[in-house]
Amino acid sequence: MKTIIEPFRIKAVEPIRMTTVEERRELIRKADYNLFSLKSKDVLIDLLTDSGTSAMSTMQWSALMQGDESYAGSPSYYRFEAAVKDLMPFKHVIPTHQGRAAEHILTSIVARGHGEGKIVPNNTHFDTTRANFEDAGIDAQDLVIEEGLDPALEYPFKGNMDLDRLNSLLAAKADCIPMIVITITNNAGGGQPVSMANLRGLRAICDKYQKPLFIDSARFAENAYFIKLREDGYEGISVKEIVREMFSYADGMTMSAKKDAFSNMGGWLALNNDEWAEQARTRLIMTEGFPTYGGLSGRDMECIAIGLKEIVNEDYLQYRIRSIEYINERLDSLGVPVMKPAGGHAIFIDARKMLPHITPLQYPGQSLAVALYIQGGIRAVEIGSFMFGRQADGSERPAPMELLRMAMPRRVYTQAQADYIVECFEELRNNIADVSGMVITREPASLRHFTARLRPVESD
Ligand code: F0G
Repeated sequence: MKTIIEPFRIKAVEPIRMTTVEERRELIRKADYNLFSLKSKDVLIDLLTDSGTSAMSTMQWSALMQGDESYAGSPSYYRFEAAVKDLMPFKHVIPTHQGRAAEHILTSIVARGHGEGKIVPNNTHFDTTRANFEDAGIDAQDLVIEEGLDPALEYPFKGNMDLDRLNSLLAAKADCIPMIVITITNNAGGGQPVSMANLRGLRAICDKYQKPLFIDSARFAENAYFIKLREDGYEGISVKEIVREMFSYADGMTMSAKKDAFSNMGGWLALNNDEWAEQARTRLIMTEGFPTYGGLSGRDMECIAIGLKEIVNEDYLQYRIRSIEYINERLDSLGVPVMKPAGGHAIFIDARKMLPHITPLQYPGQSLAVALYIQGGIRAVEIGSFMFGRQADGSERPAPMELLRMAMPRRVYTQAQADYIVECFEELRNNIADVSGMVITREPASLRHFTARLRPVESD
């Protein structure tokens, strides 16, 4: 059989409220052209993020009642810890309320109160990761391979770190670099995977310079499945074994359980270094909670423990990767400039190419996001100069790519809804030249894309 079907059936449904183009034009104007300011009831297909938006399984829902809410020593923590260690055998597992809390704690350890002059390289830092480092004064550098910056280029592991550039950076400035981070899959770079060979290469460099390697692991299972599909020697290896090998090269990880753990909330920091773990737990108690719950309730930890077993199921992963590839292929055949190959969690559109009449600092990705919402009630997110244009020194400069990300929540939308997304682009294509650029009228000092206000250029 060629057709890959959803390996689940639906037991509970949430109605979607239908809206018209005219209503949506007004709603987005009232939201100051920022899709984060929309009410979710005014969205038909919500592709803003795949974070915390998964449908939980019957096993996860029934595990809620097992949650033990004891302040200290809850069995829910030990089930959660065992599930993490089954895949990622780190010595210390420290629960946090979500991924950015784990990043914040790790940043506080490496910055030690004065981050200035320090550098943390990554393939591509995602928004909150970058903001955490920059807020501590650390220079967050992106060292993804060149192929990763060309949306149209077919290349199997576009998330790989450029090991030559990393080597040169370490040769010149090893003393300034407290750790190396690698993000799997590379979210800001199109949800593209990192190969096992690249992880092995990173380990060798980290050994040479005696630096710890941390994996920003939000979409680890999608990354592992890509390795199984694309890397020589892994075809016959189970995803679980691939996951274990990936993490065997690292000294620690930060995790958002809101992605590849099917949880609506949660995260953790895991690591081997006893001294750092002690510092992390002390900070955890100050900011999140006692080390056997961190920022989580017992029931959240139960859901994560089960989600971690379900996420490495290969029928699920086959459906997951194929459902995104399907939309990518159909958009590609319409002539929509999609990132190739398809990423693991989202469809990425090259907005610079689709809207060549809009300059980067008039935010083609944001302009496309607004047009797509008006067209079909689809909410996506810009990953380009609106998200990354403002620099730590206050200047503004175009991002390397102007992308629109349509992130697919896990186990949530059906094939007819996928076809509807494609149809919206079919319509949008016809009057794309009429879409106008955007001007920011108000923005905060950092992480502006979440709360900034905008207006179309043409209303000048
Ligand atoms: N690392 C990566 C690679 C992420 O994509 C995210 C979140 C985080 C860390 C932070 O985790 O949300 O649990 O605090 N990304 C979401 C997104 C929000 O839409 O891509 P968190």
